[in-house]
Amino acid sequence: MNPSQHPSGNRATAPASRPQDAARAARRDFETALREGLRREPRQIAPKFFYDQTGSALFDRICELPEYYPTRTEFAILRQHAGEMAECIGPRADLIEFGAGSLQKIRVLLGALREPARLVAIDISAEHLQAEAERLRAEHPALSVLAQAGDFSARLQLPGLSAGAVRRVGFFPGSSIGNFTPAEALAFLRRCAGWLAGGGLLVGVDLVKDPALLHAAYNDSAGVTAAFNLNLLARANRELGSDFDLAAFQHCAFYTPREQRVEMHLISARAQSAQVGGERFDFAEGQSLHTENSCKYTVAGFQALAHAAGLQPQAVWTDAQRLFSVHWLAAP
Ligand code: AVI
Repeated sequence: MNPSQHPSGNRATAPASRPQDAARAARRDFETALREGLRREPRQIAPKFFYDQTGSALFDRICELPEYYPTRTEFAILRQHAGEMAECIGPRADLIEFGAGSLQKIRVLLGALREPARLVAIDISAEHLQAEAERLRAEHPALSVLAQAGDFSARLQLPGLSAGAVRRVGFFPGSSIGNFTPAEALAFLRRCAGWLAGGGLLVGVDLVKDPALLHAAYNDSAGVTAAFNLNLLARANRELGSDFDLAAFQHCAFYTPREQRVEMHLISARAQSAQVGGERFDFAEGQSLHTENSCKYTVAGFQALAHAAGLQPQAVWTDAQRLFSVHWLAAP
């Protein structure tokens, strides 16, 4: 069934994405990724596995930290330029929000858009997304909101255009694109060029800046980012029956100018072992599990990447300090 014709009207949930099925699949993927990541040298896991319900709630707290500038800076850019962004997007667009999370930023755009046709909100954290989509529906009863639990870093099945819509427009705020490697970001942008042909993508991108600001943003004084990082192991204990000793791992985050990225790691504070799915993994003292890259771009560097993906950079908005940028990329 075309989700736009779902009998529950604007309360549609993609049929293949029932929360319990999505949660089971997410657990399976997490176990596979963690075991494979722990067998590799150096050890590494994709940052998408941070976002169970606890991780998503911790990320929401990160966004409010005084040191974490991206969220408030991007909000300010969106508020200041929502009208111009709405002009780029045009009337009667189907919006696809990638990594929808708490659906806060789309609210700023919704206030400026002309006759938005439908919002498809995609996020890996099924429970979190359902609750937030429900809240948005209550605020915008005329808007069709489709919550789709899924992994947009992989291939996605997107619903067709809704009745009355004239184009598809992607919205990917928060600089989550920085959590892809540049090669993964290029592949994602290429997929966007296909999905959004005739429309475009509005994407938030964190900019290269003073490393001291970056260091503070990823090593906050309240320890919320450390808790967010360590939640990965707590999640393994909760969901996979693992036995990680959380007190024996340390949060570590640093900027590497050559790669223009902040790396996050979990460092084993002593020699120890832990099991995942019955498989035991030894850790030497100081051994790392690399949990996240957060790539930073120059405006020109990101536009070149978008161009290489077949998208046309047509507008960019930044704050006065050039901490953060929001790009409109047309998809021909
Ligand atoms: C979601 N993403 C853009 C965040 C970032 O800044 O890379 C995740 C994060 N990691 C630590 N703090 C926030």
